[in-house]
Amino acid sequence: MKIKETDRLLVLTGAGISAESGIRTFRASDGLWEEHRVEDVASPQGFARDPHLVWRFYKERYKQAMSVEPNPAHYALKTLEDALGERFWLVTQNVDGLHGRAGNKNVIEMHGSLNTALCTHCHKRFPTAEIDLEAELPPCPNCRKMLRPDIVWFGEIPYQLDEIQSLLDKATLLLVIGTSGNVYPAAGFVMAARYLGARTMCVNLDAPQNKSFFDDFHQGKAGEVLPGLVAEWLK
Ligand code: OAD
Repeated sequence: MKIKETDRLLVLTGAGISAESGIRTFRASDGLWEEHRVEDVASPQGFARDPHLVWRFYKERYKQAMSVEPNPAHYALKTLEDALGERFWLVTQNVDGLHGRAGNKNVIEMHGSLNTALCTHCHKRFPTAEIDLEAELPPCPNCRKMLRPDIVWFGEIPYQLDEIQSLLDKATLLLVIGTSGNVYPAAGFVMAARYLGARTMCVNLDAPQNKSFFDDFHQGKAGEVLPGLVAEWLK
């Protein structure tokens, strides 16, 4: 395949694209996430029950994300954006910020970001680098009430769904990388894109839940498979 001048590419990424950077995926270990139950550290109820635990957990995730580097799969997406400009959009479920660090600009972080924190009271956002991470419960620099990680937890609504819908409407190609196809609404983008007439492509280590909706499935590690595919698509 070759990407045409009239094509508009929408990319969706999940935890698998960051695996080769050294960040663990979610469903690799029996619903446990870095030894925690997902509902304890990734739900509003978990935060209400034990904000100390949740903050400790996300401070660790933030430090880990800061300590790793983008891998060849992230850079392959930067190459695609350089070539396609505004005809390229990237929606990620990842909160690690690695797409931005690889140089991608047209990025929607639909599940939030470790790089920002959100005030539970005044709802302002602050860069994590500017808040007091020494405090057990970091206070809002504006109103001094409690900040929370700027992560979309289970039971919450992902960010920028309207923008994503309009990107799905316009896309002629959908490329999905490193996601198990378990968590909606992201897992449903392939069905929507296909219904709207886009060609749907997937790069993943294992067959995802929604594999039958992809026109092309490229099995393997994203860092190994994607750079070659991108070179072929841009030839
Ligand atoms: P998962 O852990 O569910 O799936 C990761 C997928 O990546 C699996 O299908 C793996 O086979 C694949 N994979 C692993 N290593 C890979 C590699 N090197 N190259 C390519 N693929 C690889 O992660 P997500 O689908 O991203 O939500 O999870 C979706 C959401 O569930 C997350 O955003 C998070 C989580 O709970 C929230 O936090 C709201």
